Amino acid sequence: MKVIIAEDYDELSKIAAQLIKEELDVKPALNLGLATGGTPLGTYKELIRLNKEGEIDFSQVKTFNLDEYVGLDSKHPSSYSYYMESILFRHINIKEENTHIPKGNTKNLEEECKAYDSYIERAGGIDLQILGIGSNGHIAFNEPADQQSLGTTIVNLTPSTIKDNSRFFERIEEVPTSAISMGIGSILKARKLLLLISGKSKREITKRLLELDYVTGQLPASFLLLHQDLTLIVDRDALGEN
Ligand code: PGA
Repeated sequence: MKVIIAEDYDELSKIAAQLIKEELDVKPALNLGLATGGTPLGTYKELIRLNKEGEIDFSQVKTFNLDEYVGLDSKHPSSYSYYMESILFRHINIKEENTHIPKGNTKNLEEECKAYDSYIERAGGIDLQILGIGSNGHIAFNEPADQQSLGTTIVNLTPSTIKDNSRFFERIEEVPTSAISMGIGSILKARKLLLLISGKSKREITKRLLELDYVTGQLPASFLLLHQDLTLIVDRDALGEN
């Protein structure tokens, strides 16, 4: 694992966007894996700026999101479809048909899980996957558990994730209790992984991750350590140095 230490969130976001730019420079038709949540917001802002200034071009890029809540329509303001559209997609020159987010609102979720993995495979796999980490160590919505899924799957959210994510809903009762999520195996198939960790609320999990010398389903992020091309960008708040 390559570790880059950023002074603060702003610097972390700029470094992440720059690394994405470098990949785009080499491969304009990049298959880019995207994450939601608070952490990538600054990175997306920076990508929008670079796109508006003509530094990067998304016209050939395909995106694949990690996860979506079960039961939320794509128009629901707390859905990840809505997040991606309002935070990033509508501000850059990406083609709508090139953006992919698992459907959490379909009748046949099992079918959707299989279809999502095979769609990624047929597109040639993900070149670069952006990742955040939950305060409980989850990656995408793969929650701590003895078994971790190889493929895209339906997961039940833990009370700690529901609490963490309730800030994106009006009331905690509105947070869905399950989600469709790329599996740990699907994520490890990406050619490069970029993990972003920022803020004091991630101190404990950052320390646990950096001190690990084994992998465990109880800390899903530990599986990322098996990947040959993992870059971690972490800020000083998350490292506990501020
Ligand atoms: P956050 O979430 O970026 O909002 O902290 C990360 C995650 O839960 O994976």
